[in-house]
Parts: sequence; C-alpha cells; structure tokens
Amino acid sequence: MKQKLVILTGSGISAESGLKTFRDAGGLWENYPVMDVASIEGWYRNPQVVLRFYNERRQQLGTAEPNEAHKGLVKLESRYEVRIVTQNVDNLHERAGSSQVLHLHGELTKACSSRDKFHVTDIGLNAIEWGDKAADGSQLRPFIVWFGEAVPAMEEAIEWVSQADILVVIGTSLNVYPAAGLLNDAPNNCRIYLIDPNEVPVQRRGVHIIRKKAVEGVKELIELLLN
Ligand code: OAD
Repeated sequence: MKQKLVILTGSGISAESGLKTFRDAGGLWENYPVMDVASIEGWYRNPQVVLRFYNERRQQLGTAEPNEAHKGLVKLESRYEVRIVTQNVDNLHERAGSSQVLHLHGELTKACSSRDKFHVTDIGLNAIEWGDKAADGSQLRPFIVWFGEAVPAMEEAIEWVSQADILVVIGTSLNVYPAAGLLNDAPNNCRIYLIDPNEVPVQRRGVHIIRKKAVEGVKELIELLLN
C-alpha cells in the first residue's frame, strides 16, 4: 500500500506563476482592505466591490500557468497516495494534473447562490456581474469562503491529515484558521516538511524546514521523497 502524503498549500505556491500572495510586501491585502473584499460583512455592505475584486482575480488566473512546483507535486503520485489540501482559490493544482485536490477556501471558477452556498455552478473565467442570478433567483456570488463563514471542507481535510504518513506545508503564512490548525491534526509519528522562503511560525517540533521558494523547494522535496 502506498504511504499517505498530504500537502497543505497556500498562495506562496502560486507566486511563481505570477499570482500575488496576501500578506507579503506588495501582497493583495496591502491594496484591498481584507474585510471589504473577503468577508461576509463586506459582501452585505458593498457587493459590487467584492464582485470586482474576484472578477479581477479570475481574469488574472486566465493568464497564469501551473509552475514547476505544482507539476512536481504530481510526480510524487508515482510513489505516494498524494492528497492536496489547498487554501488557494486558483485551479493551478488541477491544471498541473494533481488528482486529489480539496479546496478549503472555495474556487474562483465557480459561483453559487447568495441564498444557498451549496447551489454551485461552474463559471470558468467569466465575470459575475451585479444582477446575475442563480437558479433560485438570488444574486450570484463567488464560491469563496469568506471571513465570518464556515469552512465546509474542513472535516474532510482533518480526516486526510489525521491519516497522513507525511505532511508537507508549502507557501502559507499559517495565519488563517482553521486551516493553520491542520498541523496539529497530523499523527505524532507523521514526518512534516515545510517549504517557504520566509520564516513561518510552527508550533510542532521536528519539522524539516526547506527555506526556499516553492519551485526550488519542491525540487529538493522530490529528491528527499523519491530518491
Ligand atoms: P499569505 O500571504 O498569508 O502567505 C504567503 C506565504 O507564502 C508566506 O509565508 C510567504 O513567505 C510565502 N511565499 C511567498 N513567495 C513564495 C514562493 N515563491 N514560494 C513559496 N512560498 C512563498 O497567504 P496564505 O497563507 O495562502 O483566504 O493565506 C491564507 C488565506 O488568507 C488565503 O487563503 C486567503 C487569505 O485571506 C481568504 O481569503 C478566505
């Protein structure tokens, strides 16, 4: 039986594809007040601003390609049962060819009803305009988990992580809960690797740190896990 390898990714893995992270210098939250564009209160206050923000993100996604880090993770499937738990709303893991991807914070290429988040439709890279309606007649909204909302995929993520033989964390500042708490769900004997060019506060001991950007870091990880 293949060993279970769970990979938790954040915006840092897509940085070398040209997509901005959130909290780095020049990151998205420097130019957009996070509670205006990524909270349920922001949506109630000014939905047009929120729609514009995600329409821009979707448009940028159309110009981005999976990088060698996304692609490298696919190679690990030859030896391991790889499951990716991502905080990212882009689709670069899927486009690279990863077969099991769980999105904690939603997906840019989907929209849902503002009345019922479980009414989901694929929209590809199309914009959502004010006045666009879901099948139930309510305003269509981005399929994103905003601050102030529950994270429905969390239960499945905890189940994956709690069975992991190896956990790899890539490109996340571990600022946002509950996602950041997943490290604590890994079994005691789970090997943990962390790839990030900057220091990330981790509460667990024995974490193997690879202080590199994702593309270089994943190359090193592959050396360690495949050779
Ligand atoms: P952050 O912006 O908080 O953290 C990005 C991390 O990526 C940092 O630790 C950087 O050091 C690292 N990084 C930067 N460039 C990198 C590179 N080339 N390779 C590898 N790592 C690199 O982004 P997240 O942790 O993803 O949620 O943010 C988590 C959540 O906060 C997001 O999903 C989003 C945001 O608010 C919502 O909007 C709900």
